[in-house]
Amino acid sequence: MISGIQASGRLHIGNYFGAMKQFVEYQDEYDSYIFVANFHALTTVKNAEELRTDTHNLILDYLAIGLDPKKVTLYSQTDVPEVTELAWYFNCLVTMPWLSRAHAFKDAGAKGKEINVGLFDYPVLMSADILIADADVVLVGEDQRQHVEMAREIAEKFNNTFGDTFKLPKELIKKEVAIVPGIDGRKMSKSYGNDIKLFGTDDEIRSQVMKIVTDSKDVSEPKDPETDNIFALHKLVSQDQLSDLEKRYREGGIGYKESKEILAENIIKLVTPMRERRKEFENNSARVAEILKAGGERARAQAQAKMRGVRKKIGVL
Ligand code: ADP
Ligand code: TRP
Repeated sequence: MISGIQASGRLHIGNYFGAMKQFVEYQDEYDSYIFVANFHALTTVKNAEELRTDTHNLILDYLAIGLDPKKVTLYSQTDVPEVTELAWYFNCLVTMPWLSRAHAFKDAGAKGKEINVGLFDYPVLMSADILIADADVVLVGEDQRQHVEMAREIAEKFNNTFGDTFKLPKELIKKEVAIVPGIDGRKMSKSYGNDIKLFGTDDEIRSQVMKIVTDSKDVSEPKDPETDNIFALHKLVSQDQLSDLEKRYREGGIGYKESKEILAENIIKLVTPMRERRKEFENNSARVAEILKAGGERARAQAQAKMRGVRKKIGVL
């Protein structure tokens, strides 16, 4: 199993429930490769210090949420430079109209952002990450489904052109957490500014939760849990109280303010032990460096072995 997250800014609870929590849940089941996608982050980040800090922070986040370096190969994408070589070979195989179907660069274009060639080529580099590792499954959020489909198509095209080389990877997307809504009800995303930071302070978490958009029903009115943005987040963090909350929503008697207060406290309860673990790793940078080095070496050795076969197939070896 493989997955990565871009090193670009602080994580939010959409990242946690949409992707990272599953990394932890599946670490016993799969031989897992989890990395910091810092090559990908370069499509947006143009500041060395920022990239370094974000990369380091994401590693700390991974360790804090409970990834066990004894079970998971944890590494930095840039420690496997072979992925850029493989991406080039793929670039020479796919066409511009095919790549134009990808939604990521269109979304950026729609937001008025400059589309650099790296961003346009994002799905190809992501395919290289996946295929170089011989991954069977790719654990991602719903928004990444198309990218995994594209990786599969690239693998097929390569295999058809040069002979059987790559496994066809499958996406693994947990249905019930497919899209975590943000405080305005749209998909939670750091680029929309509607997110609740996973490692925010108690006050930051409370203040974000209090801003969740609701309708204007008063305390006594019955409310529909299925359309309420607060309840959507309760489903993730308030399991113990969920049936009681649902009853109170449907019958009336709970106000949005109280519902938000319960939600904020439950988020804080969830993140407190993770915050403590994060602190421990923050104070032990030698250990973190050791983990990254070992993970990088393992991932690179596997990539190098794979690339020997690839180079022979295409005729550069
Ligand atoms: P953002 O949209 O905030 O920039 P990323 O694109 O960096 O987030 O996403 C990192 C990972 O988290 C991906 O696997 C993505 O599918 C998942 N993810 C991000 N936002 C959400 C969300 N709102 N709901 C579910 N998963 C999400
Ligand atoms: N595109 C993913 C994201 O936005 C990050 C990523 C890069 C990735 N390469 C990958 C995810 C390979 C899974 C597998 O978070």
